[in-house]
Amino acid sequence: MHQPLDVPTAILQRRSIKTFKSDPIPDELLHKLVELTVAAPSSWNLQDWRIVVVREPEQKAALQAAAFNQTMVTQAPVTFVFAADAYAWQEGLDRIFTQALESGAWNEGTVGYFKNAIPGFQTKLGDKNREYAVKDAMIAATHLVLAAESLGLSTCFMNGWSEDMVKAVIGAGDNPNLAIACLVPVGYAADPRQNPGRLPLEVNVSLDRLDNPYQA
Ligand SMILES: Cc1cc2nc3c(=O)[nH]c(=O)nc-3n(C[C@H](O)[C@H](O)[C@H](O)COP(=O)(O)O)c2cc1C
Repeated sequence: MHQPLDVPTAILQRRSIKTFKSDPIPDELLHKLVELTVAAPSSWNLQDWRIVVVREPEQKAALQAAAFNQTMVTQAPVTFVFAADAYAWQEGLDRIFTQALESGAWNEGTVGYFKNAIPGFQTKLGDKNREYAVKDAMIAATHLVLAAESLGLSTCFMNGWSEDMVKAVIGAGDNPNLAIACLVPVGYAADPRQNPGRLPLEVNVSLDRLDNPYQA
């Protein structure tokens, strides 16, 4: 197997790839990618992403149609859909608590606190429950993208799609609590792409306050 790239190398080498070879991703490698994706952290460890690995040609074709016909969705052997369940915290907390208690990561005191703190915090979020779930899903997607790069694969984050259409393709119907965060085709690059560059640090990085541009 490809010798994994270290994290800084993967970060700097990654490009948004728009054309893919039809070569499939071996099952074992795909499984590894999925494991590394869900190793991402999430708020309260809610793991409120809902990830659909789209591999069937018909499903990919439907997804491409939902993504303004961007062809990388069908060219890539697999396209991940990162959805986010805005109210995952209303169910399934017990399972998260049990796991952390069993591993010894959290003690009874921590779990006792979380039992009240999580519903309290999330209830106060109101409309922002969706935004917070999407944050978690985007962090998981970032793990996928960097893991894929490290393991010899290429990707492209995608925002260009119709949410309702993507939801229909993955079978989410019109569930209002399920948000689509992004799509990520994954596969072997057909054509390289150049780095379009990044702005000088002082444009969008500050020290202590926004009005104090960061200078190395
Ligand atoms: C959240 C997000 C959504 C994006 N959506 C699309 C997309 O729908 N289609 C596309 O061709 N590129 C998309 N891109 C790729 C960006 O254009 C690309 O990341 C940017 O030009 C920088 O290039 P680089 O990724 O090679 O560094 C997206 C990138 C991000 C981070």
